[in-house]
Amino acid sequence: MERWKPVLQRLEEQFWISPEMMQAVAQKFQNAIRAGLTGQRSSLKMLPSYLARPTGQEQGLFLALDFGGTNVRVSQVELGGRGRIRVLRRVAKAIKGPKGDYDYTREQVTAEELFDFLASLIAEAIDGYTGEAIRLGHTFSFPSRQKDIGHAELIHWAKEFRTSGVEGQDVGKLLTEALARRGLGGRVEPVAIINDTVGTLLTAAYGDKDADIGSILGTGHNTCYMETNPISGLGPMIINMESGNFDRLPFTAYDEALDSYSHKPGEQRLEKMVSGHYVGELVRRMILDLMEKEGWLSFQEQGIFARAFAIRAEDLSLWLSDRSSNLEEIERWLHFRAAVRPSKFGERYTLRSLAEMVVRRSARLVAATYLAVLNHRDPEGKSSHTIAVDGSLYEKMPGYGEALQEALAEAQGSHPVEVKMRLTKAGSEVGAAIAAAVVSSRRRLL
Ligand code: BGC
Repeated sequence: MERWKPVLQRLEEQFWISPEMMQAVAQKFQNAIRAGLTGQRSSLKMLPSYLARPTGQEQGLFLALDFGGTNVRVSQVELGGRGRIRVLRRVAKAIKGPKGDYDYTREQVTAEELFDFLASLIAEAIDGYTGEAIRLGHTFSFPSRQKDIGHAELIHWAKEFRTSGVEGQDVGKLLTEALARRGLGGRVEPVAIINDTVGTLLTAAYGDKDADIGSILGTGHNTCYMETNPISGLGPMIINMESGNFDRLPFTAYDEALDSYSHKPGEQRLEKMVSGHYVGELVRRMILDLMEKEGWLSFQEQGIFARAFAIRAEDLSLWLSDRSSNLEEIERWLHFRAAVRPSKFGERYTLRSLAEMVVRRSARLVAATYLAVLNHRDPEGKSSHTIAVDGSLYEKMPGYGEALQEALAEAQGSHPVEVKMRLTKAGSEVGAAIAAAVVSSRRRLL
């Protein structure tokens, strides 16, 4: 292993984000927030959501459609007021069949086919429901421009989705048409479209008065927050920053390479450095590089390492949870997933070190963006804040939550603002129901 120490050290240096670097990123991010809000050029889209914080008193039964990652979920959600939430029934299906039998993210799939698939899950979720038309909130987790709460035009796909005929279209209309084709027109009434970050914030804010930032760390990455200063005549509301598109960052050669062969080069640069869809791919590129350039890793053939996106966040998660002194879990992984047998300890150690570098960098870059939002919202550090976070990376990657919290504390330095991070499970799903409830209460007031 000794021979490889300097190689790992070199990579370690490239992937290390020091507190000073976090502060520099935070400063640039804060400038981008300001620029985006005032209509200047910015990599942050700063999209209005047309929703403010819920009162916590919203009540009723709603349908939530959550679409934007690995799984599509439709659920009946009952809001009881005073922060009480119950998910009564849930239907979930992967967007890509596990055996490769179907894949709704492919370019060959049409918008109609995709939305018919969503409508079929909605039909399943209300099977047996005989009440009056049920209002539906729709979480659509892609950069979308809204003119009101019920309509959202997809600006462009992210997370390597490629389905044809959706970009530039109103996804509210596409869903309504699919429901009509399915004969559900009179039974389901879509009333709200939101981003998943907004859903996460709404869910936390339903019972926590300090919640003012919502973030997703899952397949994709993005953050929204409560903006109190009106933008171009709009009242205070939640702004979806589309922070995954932020691009003033310390890129390594691996980031540049990944970006160049991704579906949308130049876009979603932060997301491609931090989110669940990409962290495994970055590690795979590093491994390939070590194999090709350095002759490191004595694996017979490149095998799994030669296939783009074949290493997933779940794999890194498994490597990082291997606490055995001999790294036996990783040995098994190499054996079964990569047909490497036997493997050397140094090789297994390398895999784990690479995963650590990429995952730690992810947490530190994200912490820098949170610091920027806190500084923007509360420059004098007067209030307490809750950052509501949902997503598999945050929830399941060993050590991620701690690394994020520590990084934020380090970046804040000696004048920390009071900030809690809170796992808001199923936030994107429940938030859709809260959004539908908020719209319903508005209508009652009219
Ligand atoms: C999308 C965001 C979304 C995030 C998390 C990104 O790829 O652009 O709209 O919030 O993923 O799902």
